[in-house]
Amino acid sequence: MRESALAHLSPLGKSDSPLTLEAFETDGDHVVEGVLRDKDGNWLAIKDGVPSFLTGLLQPDLSEFAAKHNLAYERSQAGSERDADQVLTNETFSDKWSRFKTYGLEASHQEFLFDWYCKKLGLQNEGELKAFYAGKSRILECGPGSGFNSRFMAENCPGEVFALDISDAAFTTFGNTKHLANCTVVQADLMEAPFADESFDFIIADGVLHHTPNTRAAVEALYRKLEPGGQFFFYVYKKMGAARAFCDEHIRNAFMHLSPEECYAACESLTELGRALSNLNVEIKLDKAIPVLGIPEGTHDVQRLIYYNFVKCFWNDAFDFETNNMVNFDWYHPHNAWQHTEEEVVGWLKDLGVSSYDINDANPNGISVLLTK
Ligand SMILES: C[S@@+](CC[C@H](N)C(=O)[O-])C[C@H]1O[C@@H](n2cnc3c(N)ncnc32)[C@H](O)[C@@H]1O
Repeated sequence: MRESALAHLSPLGKSDSPLTLEAFETDGDHVVEGVLRDKDGNWLAIKDGVPSFLTGLLQPDLSEFAAKHNLAYERSQAGSERDADQVLTNETFSDKWSRFKTYGLEASHQEFLFDWYCKKLGLQNEGELKAFYAGKSRILECGPGSGFNSRFMAENCPGEVFALDISDAAFTTFGNTKHLANCTVVQADLMEAPFADESFDFIIADGVLHHTPNTRAAVEALYRKLEPGGQFFFYVYKKMGAARAFCDEHIRNAFMHLSPEECYAACESLTELGRALSNLNVEIKLDKAIPVLGIPEGTHDVQRLIYYNFVKCFWNDAFDFETNNMVNFDWYHPHNAWQHTEEEVVGWLKDLGVSSYDINDANPNGISVLLTK
């Protein structure tokens, strides 16, 4: 992190408690190793360029760091069952984003992903996407994963971009964005984002909030960080039809307790199935919908028909086999992975008093919301 980021950070959102920085090791203008201290002398570690605001059960073991720098330290294991579930979820993503560091940064990925972002934000093309970010001055991305989107936003926005992730993804994002002077990465729980309330004009959480203990509470926590008139985009999993729900539950029960390594291996046959179905390149026409399974009438690509309605077996030619397999792993392994109905999400927005929002129909198994506060 850069010293200039200090002015924006406020532990637990308390803007009256400024932090001070002590650097142990620097690299250019980045503090690679150091501590942040609050006015009571409590410290937070900066390791590998990233300050970590995690506490209790969520905090990694810092005893070696503390001993190295002669800091008083007692590891707290305080935390609830919800924190324990989040810890298990973090294990999935720490593993995934330590392996797939260039996801979204390769040209073939970007064509697909930014096209999908346009659909999710209700924009026509990449030019409109760049113009959208160019109009923002303080962006917060929660759960950036590899950081490809934080990087794209920082490259196209005249203001500041903050990327926050609870898992080791924060280090991957830092590696991919540290050259950008307007990008800051922190490791933190989005439920306790270390920024003042109402301090962002755009917040984005793409495929993230359903991996927290409570999706609705996560929407509410981030909404507090949005300034009036600001925009908030989030994408959450949509509840799927009965056959797909049955397979999801059955496979997740079998896979989520495996080690990441075992789960990648177990996903391979499903990825092979996705590839084989995709290679067929066949469409079928259903004259009648099948409401009992939630399948609409119309023309369906066979791979997509099976994927959306029966069993998740992702395949996209833009990715190599390992990356396709990782997308299936990402579905089956995380401990927290909630699915919601559109009615449920609209209810949350109503209760927050949000009257201006769009739900973009980007794909059948997700709900893409762009709201204005
Ligand atoms: C499926 S990945 C999505 C990454 C990226 N947004 C993308 O679309 O490729 C979910 C990310 O959310 C992060 N995450 C999960 N729970 C979080 C929380 N409570 N606070 C912050 N980040 C969280 C995970 O560590 C992971 O990097």
